[in-house]
Amino acid sequence: MRSITITTENKQSHVLIGERLQNLRSYLPDGKVIIITDDNILRYYAADMPPFPIISIGTGEKHKTLETLVHIFEKLIEHEADRTTYIVGIGGGIVCDVAGFAASVYMRGLRFGFVSSTLLSQVDASVGGKNGVNFRRFKNMLGVFNQPEFVICDPFMLKTLEKNEFIAGFAEIVKAGAIKSAPLFEYLEANVDKALSAHEEVLEKIVYESVRIKADVVENDEKEKGLRRILNFGHTFAHAFENMSDLLHGEAVSMGMVLASRLSCKMGYLSKTDSDRIENLLSRLQLPVKPVVELRKAFEPMKQDKKREGNAVFMVFLKQIGEAVIEKITYKNLEEVLNDLC
Ligand SMILES: NC(=O)c1ccc[n+]([C@@H]2O[C@H](COP(=O)([O-])OP(=O)(O)OC[C@H]3O[C@@H](n4cnc5c(N)ncnc54)[C@H](O)[C@@H]3O)[C@@H](O)[C@H]2O)c1
Ligand SMILES: [Zn+2]
Repeated sequence: MRSITITTENKQSHVLIGERLQNLRSYLPDGKVIIITDDNILRYYAADMPPFPIISIGTGEKHKTLETLVHIFEKLIEHEADRTTYIVGIGGGIVCDVAGFAASVYMRGLRFGFVSSTLLSQVDASVGGKNGVNFRRFKNMLGVFNQPEFVICDPFMLKTLEKNEFIAGFAEIVKAGAIKSAPLFEYLEANVDKALSAHEEVLEKIVYESVRIKADVVENDEKEKGLRRILNFGHTFAHAFENMSDLLHGEAVSMGMVLASRLSCKMGYLSKTDSDRIENLLSRLQLPVKPVVELRKAFEPMKQDKKREGNAVFMVFLKQIGEAVIEKITYKNLEEVLNDLC
């Protein structure tokens, strides 16, 4: 097992890569604990969970809502949760985002930790302390920054993931390499087959490196005042695509990164060779690289992006593989470039 500690203003968060769900109990304090999970996880892993009350939520992005939070709060009251209760979220990005939010606001905040059960949540979603839900058609519109005390990344749980869910996780790994680590990107290029077949050593290395990159960014800018924005590489487009389709988050991010790379190229920041390398790697990882949504239609919701500032939006561009820059681009310019790219 390898561990990474993320130290922010008022908290330490321990990410434990290679730890097992079966050892969860040793990370929990004495006293009342309540587990928040989803119906799929329960189907596979109920027997491996420690014997605490369980609140289960439905699966899929449509359940990442205020209604689900209300359901959780009602159950917490039923279970007589108080200030001393400890919350554990066991699941993917959705469970962790919702459980972290519920724990952060119930009675002004309970202690909480996660067992992260998808590749995407191990490398990205459950690390870094962003918790929240969608509101209306806006992704992650309501939420808080609050670090979990621990995140167990159990590699064995990834074996029961649907293939498309497993593959979607690679999008955020490619992102980590593209924005901050040429060596991780090159390692992936050299190990595509092993990564896809969930080779233990390869998987542990890429999960570890991705978490290390995210930890480094989050420690320097927990509340996303500047640097942390680089983690949104490809995401302005991705959120627009997600809004208009049933794409998985990772699939939308893959398409978004291809567009953002081409845009970086067009703006003169990135070489065509590097832009092609990104598209090739995503494609070899069996991720979609062509937008399934008409770009013009995707453009309108992009104006609602949380990163907007007046008539412009902050976007993450690449200068080379391993180096990102954040620049403002006006909607007018963006629209023109997108028209060119279509
Ligand atoms: N907070 C952040 O910083 C952050 C970062 C990236 C993504 N996210 C969010 O994460 C969410 C996506 O997370 P995700 O990709 O993990 O999706 P998810 O949580 O929906 O999980 C994917 C599916 O796999 C099932 N599942 C989970 N673990 C399993 C396992 N071990 N075996 C079998 N099935 C399993 C789930 O029930 C679900 O159906 C999005 O809402 C996205 O916005 C958040
Ligand atoms: Zn993402």
